[in-house]
Amino acid sequence: MIPTWAQIGYLVSAVCFIVALKALSSPRSARTGNLIGAAGAVLAVIITFAAYKPDHLVPILIALAIGTVGGVIGSRRVQMTQMPQLVALFNGVGGGAAALVALLELGDVPSDATVAAIATAFTILVGAISFSGSVVTFAKLQELMTTRPVTFPGLPVLFVASLLGGIALAVWLVSDPRVWVGVLLCLIGLAIGVMLVLPVGGADVPIVISLLNAFTGLTVAAGGYVLGNTVLLVAGTLVGAAGTLLTKLMADAMGRSVFNILFGAVRGGSTLGAGTASDRPVISGGPEDVAILLGYANKVIIVPGYGLAVAQAQHTLRDLVEELQSRGVKVDYAIHPVAGRMPGHMNVLLAEAQVPYEQLREMDDINGDFKTTDVVLVVGANDVVNPAARNTPSAPIYGMPILNADEAQRVIFLKRSMRPGFAGIENELLYDPRTTLLFGDARDSLTKLLAALKTV
Ligand code: TAP
Repeated sequence: MIPTWAQIGYLVSAVCFIVALKALSSPRSARTGNLIGAAGAVLAVIITFAAYKPDHLVPILIALAIGTVGGVIGSRRVQMTQMPQLVALFNGVGGGAAALVALLELGDVPSDATVAAIATAFTILVGAISFSGSVVTFAKLQELMTTRPVTFPGLPVLFVASLLGGIALAVWLVSDPRVWVGVLLCLIGLAIGVMLVLPVGGADVPIVISLLNAFTGLTVAAGGYVLGNTVLLVAGTLVGAAGTLLTKLMADAMGRSVFNILFGAVRGGSTLGAGTASDRPVISGGPEDVAILLGYANKVIIVPGYGLAVAQAQHTLRDLVEELQSRGVKVDYAIHPVAGRMPGHMNVLLAEAQVPYEQLREMDDINGDFKTTDVVLVVGANDVVNPAARNTPSAPIYGMPILNADEAQRVIFLKRSMRPGFAGIENELLYDPRTTLLFGDARDSLTKLLAALKTV
């Protein structure tokens, strides 16, 4: 039985998690939110040690130290663009840990406690799915394996058979909680996780990470029920709910259903395009030409994308914008909800460069302004301004809402080559007579552009 003081402490932790989630919903308060959440987690760990007084303190502390050192080094070294794979790894470890704890708890589940047995079976199965699925997403994003959808004949049949097998084993475990049945259930969960993620194309992997995150949350919540631990129950439910909502929001922003993201490739339609660039002529210019276009404009909209993060050009971009503003040009940043590779990627990047939040305008808010804009400067973005999302029903991004850059007087793209964006499809806007391409690494191009602008 957990003492009352510990229950109250857990309640304080749970409140920290809720306040943290709220604060994380705005870039202004996100840092504080993160700290509040971390403080809640540390408090919960301390209370757990004090209340349960575990027998094997030394190995537990050693494990804790290894985990802490690994976590700190991993988080400090990771590049911003590698954040999704780090999240995938942390998430997978959480799901795997919950499944292992449930396996170990099997011996203690009383034969008449049906609900606890159901929660245990759920934790083992879904925790194992989350673990192996997250490992595959990590391997895809880290390019340890192909990022293209992987399918083979018979995959759908094998997947459905494994799912039914998993459910049957879970029912068996509930009626007869033997360890070997639990181990089998865990193995089948691992196989389901791999089969679930293999057919997902690289572009969709971040959404699957969010889905697996929700799975881990639910697993932890069920584990909290088995262990009679309130803070696990609350934290797991919060992660489960937040992960589910985020998955839905990202899928909506890409104009896709979650089902299509998961099983699109299995049903025959690849979730990625062909990835080829044609050799049709385009208009390219030098920094001086582009500086003249920008310097004499009244209104400019910046569209940042994944390439801005790759080039780490956010500071140079801010300097360029400040130079334009000092010349009386009105400048806004147009933020597409799935620009970059993770939710809020552009907001985080531009906040790092101290771009004022008021200049960042969301897609729905700014889309009507492109018609009256002189120049759109697209910095390392592609899919989020690709009119194929509106005009080409066969395109993998068809239906995704885009920024209306094609409605502006002139469009400038900063990119290194004619390679397509993440969806792997051509962008007609690159070939439009009103478009000028400035080839090169975005940071390099922006530096040259800034120097040229000062001479205009
Ligand atoms: P993308 O369509 O991926 O285009 C990125 C562009 O940046 C490419 O055209 C690339 O062209 C250019 N680039 C890369 N490195 C560069 C560098 N160092 N300097 C200059 N340019 C560089 O990016 P986007 O427009 O931001 O769209 C995001 C895509 O990711 C969408 O398809 C979206 O659905 C997908 N996605 C996003 C998320 C979230 S939550 N954000 C999640 C899943 C999927 P070059 O190679 O020619 O330079």
